[in-house]
Amino acid sequence: GITRHYKFNIRLQNVTRLCHTKSMVTVNGKFPGPRIVAREGDRVLIKVVNHVSNNITIHWHGIRQLQSGWADGPAYVTQCPIQSGQTYVYNYTIIGQRGTLWWHAHVSWLRASVYGPIVIFPKHNVPYPFPKPDKEVPIMFGEWWNADPEAVISQALQTGGGPNVSDAYTINGFPGPLYNCSAHETYKLKVKPGKTYLLRIINSALNDDLFFSIANHTLTIVEADASYVKPFQTDILFITPGQTTNVLLKTKPLSHNATTFFMTARPYFTGQGTFDNSTVAGVLQYENDSSNITNLPLPTLPPINGTSFVANFTSKFRSLANSQYPANVPQTVDKHFFFTVGLGTHPCPKNQTCQGPNNSSKFAASINNISLVLPTTAFLQAYFFGKSNGVYTTDFPVTPLMPFNYTGTPPNNTIVTNGTKLVVLPYNTTVELVMQDTSILGAESHPLHLHGFNFFIVGQGFGNFDAKNDPAKFNLVDPVERNTVGVPSGGWVAIRFLADNPGVWFMHCHFDVHLSWGLRMAWVVLDGKLPSQKLPPPPADLPKC
Ligand code: C2O
Repeated sequence: GITRHYKFNIRLQNVTRLCHTKSMVTVNGKFPGPRIVAREGDRVLIKVVNHVSNNITIHWHGIRQLQSGWADGPAYVTQCPIQSGQTYVYNYTIIGQRGTLWWHAHVSWLRASVYGPIVIFPKHNVPYPFPKPDKEVPIMFGEWWNADPEAVISQALQTGGGPNVSDAYTINGFPGPLYNCSAHETYKLKVKPGKTYLLRIINSALNDDLFFSIANHTLTIVEADASYVKPFQTDILFITPGQTTNVLLKTKPLSHNATTFFMTARPYFTGQGTFDNSTVAGVLQYENDSSNITNLPLPTLPPINGTSFVANFTSKFRSLANSQYPANVPQTVDKHFFFTVGLGTHPCPKNQTCQGPNNSSKFAASINNISLVLPTTAFLQAYFFGKSNGVYTTDFPVTPLMPFNYTGTPPNNTIVTNGTKLVVLPYNTTVELVMQDTSILGAESHPLHLHGFNFFIVGQGFGNFDAKNDPAKFNLVDPVERNTVGVPSGGWVAIRFLADNPGVWFMHCHFDVHLSWGLRMAWVVLDGKLPSQKLPPPPADLPKC
């Protein structure tokens, strides 16, 4: 591989959407941000210079960061933030991965405006395992607030309530013509007839799972989270925040009277409370067509609470699992974990009146009833320099503190405790983790993202996980390999991974509101014996807290 250099200047930029102009934190003034392009095996150096007053870090979502945990990016987990005026060079090599990933800010809600695609081509002379596309196009979904998202989340955390929902969804930064004052801000994909396009679809929305479709066109899914899958066709795609999906789009033949078609995305939501249920539209426009885009038919999408579509769609994903791209599913398990994921509340202190939900002091979210509190240093530094004392303990529970029947009425006492407990895994531990949605404050899908690893989704289902009978049905042959999985609304998912990457690795719900409320934990993976199994020391420019 070669070395590729990028420079990310973090600076403010005025951006106008929905007739609201605001000053946003951006990379190089771009919204969405610039594309990182590399080949499997390349080293990537990204020099990030912070010219704004906010602290910032950048996470390379889905990059495995083998032996390069210092470049992973989540604030207070692998590094202290890059403060105003400071610089940090992210330095990593892309090993054994090709496909679509993405990068985003990993502090507070700055990723609302600080995000962009990562495109990894296969090694030279290695073809795709599907027909070569004529053109490749990133499609990034996002969310737009007329207000400053930093103010939205900080106000919510202060009052204990839910944050204001976004004002629009976006495709490549544009809300499209279904919103007021937005007709000119429409993403347009110009295409030629009879060609194959590879759409690199990324859900960078903060808080919403999305359905997506292009009117009168079928999509062939070929890759998920930078892992090839057995191709399958669909008219509608489902994607959680954090996930990426590559699809082939065949345009209509020359003879066809092809004109212009809407592509739309809107959320899937089964929880309680308010959410943004609006629709973003872009257009697929055949060359030489100049149709008026105001009366085009909209693609059909499942209902907002379309859980049966989601379950059916996600069950179709299978690893390619051939000799060139084998699925290395751990066949035996060293350590089993059962984590509940969901919402809850912090109790109202005695003799006080509280404004949070159900008279609590505030919303919370947790894993096994624990809301991880981030330190004022970074876990990885504390671990590496042997200074974990007072920063974290290693007694994260392997099962919930308060188990109950997750399909029945949740107990009144849904209290969440704050903690700084981590899990320690010896090098090369094979892990099986079952995650169960608690349905407290509403059954909801939770897109769980694991840093530093891909995992195999060996099973999923609705209701309570049945430890006696469900494991017999696990797919250990060709399960899909991902870095983000939607824990089914009112159900469970089982994943397996091999802990072959030393460092401290964040795992959290990729809904930023749940992440902010504490639906997060971290794994400490110890060094192995060989030099190639150890985490090297940090780079000299690693930011200090
Ligand atoms: Cu894409 Cu920890 O996040």
